[in-house]
Amino acid sequence: MTAKRPRPILLKNYRPPAYLIDTVELDIALDPTRTRVHSRLKLRPNPKAEKKKEPLRLDGEHLELAEVRLDGRTLTGKDYRLDDTSLTLKKTPAKAFTLDITTYVNPEGNKALQGLYRTNGVYCTQCEAQGFRRISYYLDRPDVLATYTCRIEAEMDEAPVLLSNGNPLERGTLAGGKRHYAVWHDPYPKPCYLFALVGGDLSSIASTFRTMSGREVDLRIYVEHGKESRAGWAMDSLKRAMRWDEERFGREYDLDVFNIVAVSDFNMGAMENKGLNVFNDRLILASPETATDTIFEAIESVVAHEYFHNWTGNRITCRDWFQLCLKEGLTVFRDQEFSGDERSETVQRIIDVRRLKSLQFTEDAGPLAHPVRPESYIEINNFYTATVYEKGAELVRMIQTLLGRDYFRKGMDLYFDRHDGEAATVDEFITCFEDASGTDLSHFKRWYSQAGTPELVCDLHFDPEKKRARLDVEQVLPPTPGQPHKKPLDIPLKLGLLGGNGQDLPLKLDGGPVLEDGVVHITKRKQSFKFSDIPSRPVPSLLRGFSAPANITVDLSDQDLEFLIANDSDLFNRWQAANTYAMRTLIETVRRLAKGKKASHGMRYAKALSTAISGEGLENAYRAELLTLPSQADVARVIGKNVEPVSIQRAHRRLMKLVGRTLGDQLEDLYDELADEGPFSPDAEGAGRRAVRNAALTLLTARGEKPDLERLSRHYFTATNMTDRAHALYQLAAQRSSDRERALNDFYEQWQGDHIVIDTWFAAQAHSPLASTLSRVKALTRHPLFALTAPNKVRALIGTFALTNPVQFNRADGAGYTFLADQVLALDRLNPQIAARMLSAFRIWRSLEPKRRAKARSALSRVARAKGGSPDVQEIVSKMLEL
Ligand code: PHE
Ligand code: ZN
Repeated sequence: MTAKRPRPILLKNYRPPAYLIDTVELDIALDPTRTRVHSRLKLRPNPKAEKKKEPLRLDGEHLELAEVRLDGRTLTGKDYRLDDTSLTLKKTPAKAFTLDITTYVNPEGNKALQGLYRTNGVYCTQCEAQGFRRISYYLDRPDVLATYTCRIEAEMDEAPVLLSNGNPLERGTLAGGKRHYAVWHDPYPKPCYLFALVGGDLSSIASTFRTMSGREVDLRIYVEHGKESRAGWAMDSLKRAMRWDEERFGREYDLDVFNIVAVSDFNMGAMENKGLNVFNDRLILASPETATDTIFEAIESVVAHEYFHNWTGNRITCRDWFQLCLKEGLTVFRDQEFSGDERSETVQRIIDVRRLKSLQFTEDAGPLAHPVRPESYIEINNFYTATVYEKGAELVRMIQTLLGRDYFRKGMDLYFDRHDGEAATVDEFITCFEDASGTDLSHFKRWYSQAGTPELVCDLHFDPEKKRARLDVEQVLPPTPGQPHKKPLDIPLKLGLLGGNGQDLPLKLDGGPVLEDGVVHITKRKQSFKFSDIPSRPVPSLLRGFSAPANITVDLSDQDLEFLIANDSDLFNRWQAANTYAMRTLIETVRRLAKGKKASHGMRYAKALSTAISGEGLENAYRAELLTLPSQADVARVIGKNVEPVSIQRAHRRLMKLVGRTLGDQLEDLYDELADEGPFSPDAEGAGRRAVRNAALTLLTARGEKPDLERLSRHYFTATNMTDRAHALYQLAAQRSSDRERALNDFYEQWQGDHIVIDTWFAAQAHSPLASTLSRVKALTRHPLFALTAPNKVRALIGTFALTNPVQFNRADGAGYTFLADQVLALDRLNPQIAARMLSAFRIWRSLEPKRRAKARSALSRVARAKGGSPDVQEIVSKMLEL
């Protein structure tokens, strides 16, 4: 950690590397505290470098340098400059040359979990974004592509399994028989962030996959001993993902083996290292008894995501880290499409849009807002954000909407063709779609550089005489940090006009064609669209399928919403109408409560919801989405300023109760009829059934009558799967009943030995709205099963509290903020990446009412003033405070 303020890296300063590396030969001798890394690099000056004869500067951090040899000659201190972050050679040959570098690293002492570290006795690496420089001196940038050969040696007992990227070449025992080695070779050139190595005493499950051209690939998933039976779902998901990528995008796997390793301590969800994906074990291990349906779904989607990176990320990588969305946004889009195809397209879209709004819209509206392709960063780890990932995926989706599926696929094919083996840019990606379709996307590209969520203010006029409807659209682009003024965006607005009987009317543009796909292009700040042959005043269904990441404002009456809920042919928008109706009701209740009025409000919404869920032929998973009201955080986001969390909580509780009462019989019937019979299946059908039943349970519990609480306890104690059990545990942890402690104790007794499942026990307590929650959370930070060095524990306890418990985190006395600031400061000394993430829970602080705002500010200022903080945390806190 350096004392001086780090300088930001700027996109506009990108220069091609002065040197290239063709091959890397690593020889790594694993040892808990002193691992020896020998690296032989074949380098040459880059013919495309802008400046000739630049000295060779290699990145390196937290390394002990033992030796450097240039073309076989050992260098002395006079030949190079060494500091905390680099090794610079004063003179290198004008042609190709070989460097041999020996360094030592300490895996056991590595708590940042970047580079080579140890988790649960297993050696593993994490190199994205800049972890390789903690293993050896290197050109640690994604546009330097080399082929790797990696020899690993270790104690046979400690690490019988030795893995790296690519295909296995050879293995053997060393003299004495106590140590052994393995050699791996990856024929595909890659940047060092995709390098990986694993060594440990692991068990595995195996399978095979026959690719579209008939090659047989060995698949293996490595897990802790005794957990093999929980890896089956991940394996099944992997095979389905491999098939899907062949069918949908024509992409075939390219190595003889594909390995996945599950580790317990990991900063993120998973990592797409070539041929050797490393996963947070909570996203691999699942059985009906230990994992919820949500986890099963997450495993399916993350396994697919990492696999899809093989083409979007690995075969074609990013030129620089500003292009991160090139691989992440695109790969999220691909995994969303996969999940939609495996399950229900509409339900998947609802889940993805909920996530986008709750994470990305919140980010975009606060001090951390940044474009999908940022232009500056201090610590790149801070840019693995909802904006890069989720909004990045929306931009790809909009290209598909604008061009249509056929041209979209042609553009993708061209991209794979043209850039295979390269480090590409967003501009090059877009050019492929322009070339494949003959469409100019230069205006569309503004989406990549302009931050903030556009608002589409829409107005529909109907002229009964001319039988014409006119839709006026204005795009309002709110300012974001560093971007006070915005230019209009190119927005695909998908819409429908519903006639009196609820049918879609043909969209006949005045004097133009019928809009077959229902998409109009908004390109200017203000635009009008006229539709002819409209028999009566239509009800507009706007932004169908969420065709753009925008907010929409349109004057719809309660009746209009009810009409849409009952009739919209676009099922996404039918759900959207119900959600809008709930939001409107909640906000009105907050307002009434603030004025001290009695809030007997929401009956009409409840009735509409009752009709909606009884609609013919709806999937259970879809009905569950209808029954899931906007969260308190959603309401806070829409209110946007002077947020007072307690009044939102009160309004939320009232509406839940009202819905629970109004739909009582209907919910009880659903609850009783949909009980699981037969064996558990994690598929969409089974999960949908459980989701409706649990949503019904929540609403019934909100009534708060004795039988309701009894039902809740029964649900917990008779549960036969973790989906039901965890759902009930969260609800029980929110109640002031004696069953609360009984259930929590029961859960603890049963699962204390399982480091993944026990996180649910931590999270359920941190999520509780009870006033005692903060003191309970504090006590739990001293629990023997909690550890600040374990990211999953930190996320389960501190993350759940700060990110999902608006009332207790935003306590009026500011104690929630003080707690979070203390934890962030303590974490920053161990794992800056996780510390910075936790700190981002403050991103909503400016939208709070003045008293809480002042308390949050002082907690943030304390973090800003702390000595020796990491660049990670300093970058976030200074943005928060606009320093
Ligand atoms: N690249 C990983 C993914 O999205 C995420 C990740 C980033 C993992 C940085 C570790 C470190 O699939
Ligand atoms: Zn990814």
